[in-house]
Amino acid sequence: MIVNNIECIGRKFNEADFLSPDCIVIMLCRECQPAVRKLRITDDAQKTIELYLQNRPDIYDVGEVHCLTVLNNDKLQQLLLVGCGSGKECTPTNIRKAAGSAVRKLKELRCSKALVAAPLLMKAERAHYLQALTEGLYLGAYTFEEFKSGSKQSALCSITIANDVAEGQKVMEAAGIISASVSYTRNLINRPGNVVTPAVMISEAEQAAQQYGLEIEILDEQLLAANNMNAILAVGQGSHNKPCLITLKYQGAGGSPFTAFVGKGITFDSGGISIKPDDNMGEMKDDMSGAGAVLGAIRAIAALKLPCNVMAVLACAENMPDGNAQRPGDIVKAANGKTIEVVSTDAEGRMVLADAVWYACKQGAVRVIDIATLTGAVIIALGKETAAVVANDDELAAKVIKAGKMTGESYWQLPSLPECREALKSDTADLLNSAGRPGGCITGGLFIGEFIEPGVAWAHLDIGGTSTADKTTGFKVKGGTGFGTMTLIKLAEML
Ligand code: BES
Ligand code: MN
Ligand code: ZN
Repeated sequence: MIVNNIECIGRKFNEADFLSPDCIVIMLCRECQPAVRKLRITDDAQKTIELYLQNRPDIYDVGEVHCLTVLNNDKLQQLLLVGCGSGKECTPTNIRKAAGSAVRKLKELRCSKALVAAPLLMKAERAHYLQALTEGLYLGAYTFEEFKSGSKQSALCSITIANDVAEGQKVMEAAGIISASVSYTRNLINRPGNVVTPAVMISEAEQAAQQYGLEIEILDEQLLAANNMNAILAVGQGSHNKPCLITLKYQGAGGSPFTAFVGKGITFDSGGISIKPDDNMGEMKDDMSGAGAVLGAIRAIAALKLPCNVMAVLACAENMPDGNAQRPGDIVKAANGKTIEVVSTDAEGRMVLADAVWYACKQGAVRVIDIATLTGAVIIALGKETAAVVANDDELAAKVIKAGKMTGESYWQLPSLPECREALKSDTADLLNSAGRPGGCITGGLFIGEFIEPGVAWAHLDIGGTSTADKTTGFKVKGGTGFGTMTLIKLAEML
C-alpha cells in the first residue's frame, strides 16, 4: 500500500535484500543491540556499527537517527541507526515515533529503496511493533502542499520491512488503512476555513458513505429546526455557511447496540460577537478537528470491516459575527428542552455538541464519546501532548485511555465532581454556556454531559491542545495531527 508516497512491503528476512537498497535502516534499542549479528547484514556493516557504538552511547535515544555510510559490493550504502530507547522505553509507541523520524531522514537523503530491519521484529508475536513501525513510517512522511504552486510530489520511496511476524502482511495492510485515515483527517484540519465549510464536510461524508457503503443522514437548517436543535442553529446563525448535523452509520455487528463518536465540527471559530483577539486567529481553522477525527475513524473502521456498530455524528457550523449572529446574553432552548444562557459566543463548541450528543442518544447509542477542540484551558491544564477526558463512566474513560496508550495518543482523566457543575448554574436559564476560567476544561465537558440521556455511558475528549503540533517530531508533522483518529479506531476494535 502507498500512503504519503511511502510504500511499505513486508517480507521474511532474506540476505539478498541487503544488497540492492540505497539505504539500510536498523532500529535499535539497547537490549536489542547484541542481536544485530543475527540480522546477518554484511561484515562491513556489522563492523561499522560496532565501531560507531563504541563512541556513541547515546544512540539509543528514541528517534535519534545516526547516518553512516558503508561499502557494499563496490557500492556506497547509507546505514541509518535509529534509536528505540533502552529497557522499558522500547514500546510500540516509541517505535512509531522513531520510525517517523527515520522516514524523514530517508526522504532527506532522497532514498528510493530502503530496507528496515530490527531484531525486535524477528519474533512471530511482535504484531504491535510491526504495526507501529509501519504507521510511523507512513505518518512521519506526511506533508501538506495542496496550496503551494509548483510543488512537486517527492519521489516514491519503497520500504521493505524484514520481519517474522505472524500474518505480518495483514498487520501492515491495517497500518496502511489507519495511516491513510489519519492523513485524511490531517488534510481536513490543514485546509483553511474558506475551503472546508460545513457544506464541504457534507460532501466529504457523502463520499465516505459511497465508498464504504455507510448509511448517511444530513440534517440541514430546516431539519435542525424541525428537531428543535436550537443550540447548533444559534452558533451557525451568524454565518452564510449554514450549520448541519451529519450522521454516518457503520453496521459491522448485526443487531447489537451502537456506539456514537460525536465530533465538534466548527469549520472556523472567530469567537462570534465575543470575538477572539486577532493574533493567531487563523489557527481556529483547526476547530473541526474532532469532526475530522470521527470521519477519519469511521472510514478506517469500515475499511477494516471491524465487527462493531458505530455511528459518527459531525456537528458542523461556522462561528461568525454577522448581523444575525447570536449575542452574549441570549437564551436558547436546546433539543433536549434545557435552556442555555449564552455568556460567551466563543463557547460555541459545547453548544453544537449539546444538540449532537442528544441526537446520538435519540438514535439509540448506548455509549457516546465526543471529541472536540473545546477549550484553550486544556492546554493550561495538560499541555500540548495530552488530551483531557471528562466522563460519567470511569470504565469507558479507562478504555479510552488504554486505546490511547496502544496508539501513541496520551489522555488524562479529570475529576467531574458534582460541585463543579454548580458553576454552570444560571440565574435566568438552566445552564450557563461558560463558567469562566477556573477548571474551564472540566466545566466545558460537564456542560456537554448535561445533554446525555440518563443511562448512557459518556466520555468527552478535549483535544484543544493535541489537535495541532507546533513542530515536527516523531510521527507528528507540524500542523494538524489527526489526534484521536487512531484512538477511536482502536476503541472500536476493543468494543
Ligand atoms: N475552539 C476554542 C478552544 C481553543 C482555543 C482550542 C485555543 C485551542 C486553542 C473554543 O471554541 C473556545 O473558544 N473556548 C473558549 C471557552 C471559553 C469562552 C469558556 C476558551 O477556551 O477560551
Ligand atoms: Mn470558541
Ligand atoms: Zn471553538
